[in-house]
Amino acid sequence: MTERKQRVRAAFDRAAATYDAAAAVQREICGHLLDLAKAHPPGAPVQRLLDAGCGTGTGATVLIDWLAPARRYALDFAPGMLACHVDRPGQTAICGDLEHLPLADASVDAIWSSLAVQWCNPARVMAELGRVLQAGGTAWVATLGPQTLWELRDAFRGIDDAEHVIGFHGPDTWQQSAIQGGLQVAGCRRIPAAATAGSLRHLLKDIKAIGAHQVGSGRRRKPLGKAAWRQLEATYERHRRTDGLLPATYDVILLALHRTD
Ligand SMILES: C[S@@+](CC[C@H](N)C(=O)[O-])C[C@H]1O[C@@H](n2cnc3c(N)ncnc32)[C@H](O)[C@@H]1O
Repeated sequence: MTERKQRVRAAFDRAAATYDAAAAVQREICGHLLDLAKAHPPGAPVQRLLDAGCGTGTGATVLIDWLAPARRYALDFAPGMLACHVDRPGQTAICGDLEHLPLADASVDAIWSSLAVQWCNPARVMAELGRVLQAGGTAWVATLGPQTLWELRDAFRGIDDAEHVIGFHGPDTWQQSAIQGGLQVAGCRRIPAAATAGSLRHLLKDIKAIGAHQVGSGRRRKPLGKAAWRQLEATYERHRRTDGLLPATYDVILLALHRTD
């Protein structure tokens, strides 16, 4: 496992206890992904469902309520997240990596994956989703695009030249990777969603509470000095909305994918 992947995993592992309380925008995005799933429903009843990058498992409940699959595989590489899943009937929790799924070829009928694959190499993860999906199966994937946290990227630009927000891939890359992975793109939507808070400090605290603060590409950085922090806050103030809240935008890419052969 790369050093970067280890940092991402450790951050999500630590965030398991605080995730659900801070995950309002993540729940909203699961609602959008469910809408897409309903627009591109499975062709046959789903017996075996994989929740790929399941986190605490709360996100997929909207889909599970709708499809009622007999077997569910909840997969995540953060043991702390999986520990939130105990005692759910019909469910097997699997500690594994999305880029190397510990599942047999064609072993699931449908895949749900919300806000996990953006941490992965698109070609590798799409090849894995395509491999484990049964012919005729469907995958619904929510990921993040290049405009994600643009306000933060913008505000840091005046402070230093480090990459504080990684360069997320756009919809074309995800669609091409899906096709290379043997999947047909049935639907693709792109929508903005905003996390909000009264102050920049609270916005960043919420991002940390869900474990997504490893969005920078660099190693551990020195904490910002007081003057730099004040400058960051002042720059971010430009984005304060008329309802008095500061937004952090998520550039959400939603994909419905079919495995045809
Ligand atoms: C933002 S959370 C989303 C959790 C859940 N899907 C939801 O909608 O609430 C991202 C999850 O993906 C997991 N994840 C990220 N990269 C992963 C990888 N390469 N393999 C397995 N899990 C991964 C993290 O551990 C984390 O639990």
